[in-house]
Amino acid sequence: MRTNVLFSPLIADELYFTGKTTVIIDVLRASTTIIAAFQNGAKEIVPVATVEFAVKVSGGMFGGQILLGGERNTIKVEGFALGNSPLEYAPEIVSGKTIILYTSNGSKAIVKAKFSENLFVSSYSNLSTVADQIIKLGKDFEILCAGKANSFSMEDTICAGRLIKEIITKNGNIEITDTAKAAMSLDKSFGSDILKMLKESEHGKLLIENGFEEDLKYAATVDTSRVIPYLTTNVLKSLPVDDDSVNKVDS
Ligand code: MLT
Repeated sequence: MRTNVLFSPLIADELYFTGKTTVIIDVLRASTTIIAAFQNGAKEIVPVATVEFAVKVSGGMFGGQILLGGERNTIKVEGFALGNSPLEYAPEIVSGKTIILYTSNGSKAIVKAKFSENLFVSSYSNLSTVADQIIKLGKDFEILCAGKANSFSMEDTICAGRLIKEIITKNGNIEITDTAKAAMSLDKSFGSDILKMLKESEHGKLLIENGFEEDLKYAATVDTSRVIPYLTTNVLKSLPVDDDSVNKVDS
């Protein structure tokens, strides 16, 4: 098994992901929020790359069980029901609902990697479960860091390094590319105190400035969920963790 880390979505085009197994990481905050939403009973999440498309998709859906969620520059998009704080996605709000999600980097990264054969969403909250899933699949995998404005993000890269470490610990050595090695090295240097690392990251500082310090605490907690969001026909669903039919999860 071989793994490679993409530090930002800019590094690859959509076709790069065709047939690959891809793990998307956006610790602050899209991945963490997506996992929280499923943990709290959301039915499905439709990731979109523009606000306009979010509105269009919601207009074409029926039943009143739909919520628009997402942010621009960390703040809830005007007219949307929810922002991008995991704390907003409480059971009484999201249970049984379809959520259309637009975020500045995370939802766009998912859309970009949509041709992946297997696409999973990870964050600190579900690391161990995702590691088990990757081991079970036994395939080479890419970790796509959502990054920030098509650039590097410390927290996503460090979380990627931690995921690789977890897989190696559980399953023995795997082949790692230079970027994967770099991610592991950053995790070793800065990943032991996750909350401190998040608070000192560029995006963490912006979130604190904008009143979202509690989200950092939430995002820093490890393995609180066994939810694995996976993409099937452009919609995220929650993978039943003991499901053996993982080798093309939507078939
Ligand atoms: C993103 O997709 O860039 C983020 O999740 C931004 C945020 O809401 O903190």
